[in-house]
Amino acid sequence: MTLSVDGARLRADLEELGRIGRVPEGGISRTSFSDADRAARAWYLSRCAEAGLSAVIDGIGNIIVSSPAVPKDVAARPAVWSGSHIDTVPNGGQFDGALGSLAALECLRRIHESGTVLDRPVRAVVYTDEEGNYAHLLGSSALVRGFSRAELEAMTGRDGDRFADAFIAAGGDLDAAATVRVDPSTIHATVELHIEQGPVLEQRGHDIGLVTGIVGLGGGTLTFRGRADHAGTTPMNLRKDALRAAAELLASLPEIAASISDRAVITSGIVHVQPGSANVVPGIVTCSIDYRDLDPQNLDALGAAITAAAHNVAAASGVEVEVDFEPSIPPAPLDAGIRAIIAESAASRDFVASDLPSGAGHDSQNLATIAPTAMIFVPSIDGRSHCPEEDTAWRDVENGANVLLDTLIALATN
Ligand code: GLV
Ligand code: MN
Ligand code: MN
Repeated sequence: MTLSVDGARLRADLEELGRIGRVPEGGISRTSFSDADRAARAWYLSRCAEAGLSAVIDGIGNIIVSSPAVPKDVAARPAVWSGSHIDTVPNGGQFDGALGSLAALECLRRIHESGTVLDRPVRAVVYTDEEGNYAHLLGSSALVRGFSRAELEAMTGRDGDRFADAFIAAGGDLDAAATVRVDPSTIHATVELHIEQGPVLEQRGHDIGLVTGIVGLGGGTLTFRGRADHAGTTPMNLRKDALRAAAELLASLPEIAASISDRAVITSGIVHVQPGSANVVPGIVTCSIDYRDLDPQNLDALGAAITAAAHNVAAASGVEVEVDFEPSIPPAPLDAGIRAIIAESAASRDFVASDLPSGAGHDSQNLATIAPTAMIFVPSIDGRSHCPEEDTAWRDVENGANVLLDTLIALATN
């Protein structure tokens, strides 16, 4: 008989996690290492313990969960990983990351409690700071590439806080964080279930998305440095207004994106103005920049085009600009073999499935650099995400979790 997830239990878990970090604005704020994130992690660990599963937390806070019932010889084999994240964007939704994290836990719990014996271990994983408050896909980047202590010490969050302070306050150790790395030979394959976060599946009327690849992403900050002056006495033509320069650059972003490709997107979601007074000409402006494309050459071209435009605008406005972009995360094609297994599972359960790329970033794009990796999408209502309105039908939650379960069992079977 085909094993299936307990849909009601998964829903109850998602609803319970969705109450942690609720904010008056209507959404959920669980920034990595915040009190809410720490409460969510503690809650997740308690759910693992209640299920009789054992969790290991690595040096940067990634949580890796196993069934202790797996025979020793099987436990030593390369494992099938599945997971996502439980941190959120500020005032975000209930499903981004939570779905893939709790569905993976539900799958492992079903395998464990049903006494299903497989040829490889299955592990449920929660990655740290996927939303990149401190660095894009922080936890999975540490696993596949690692961070030096100096890099960790230099990281700051969107509020200007230091990663090191938040991490140490949460009980972390920077030396341990700097040694995190996963041995690729210990991973057989990875699969992540996620909401689509866009409108494609809903528009097609399809149940399951077979993700072909994940966009690459780059960015960091631009700092425009002009001169703070009196707003009443400084003639317009003598100003070095950092905000006017930044505004000109930001207004040109759609044109820059369109000049590179149809799929290129550029976003500036944070702008800080100093000194930040109505009666002072802005002296310093920092803006975040996030750019994405499916093609690696376009990704490089985007970074170069934004840099050139920022320098041109700055020169024309008599201000200076500093471009501080992180190394970009390359686009990741996903594994066609696992995609075929997902398609087979969907068909066997009478779900309609189709291919689509992911415009959102995911830890899977890091894992794809070291192991065969795939993603399963389920529809997002109205395509909304990274906002309180983010929603997915409970039927789709259960459908996606069942396809994940089939896929994990197939991958863990010789
Ligand atoms: C994560 O949600 C991202 O796409 O940045
Ligand atoms: Mn996500
Ligand atoms: Mn997200």
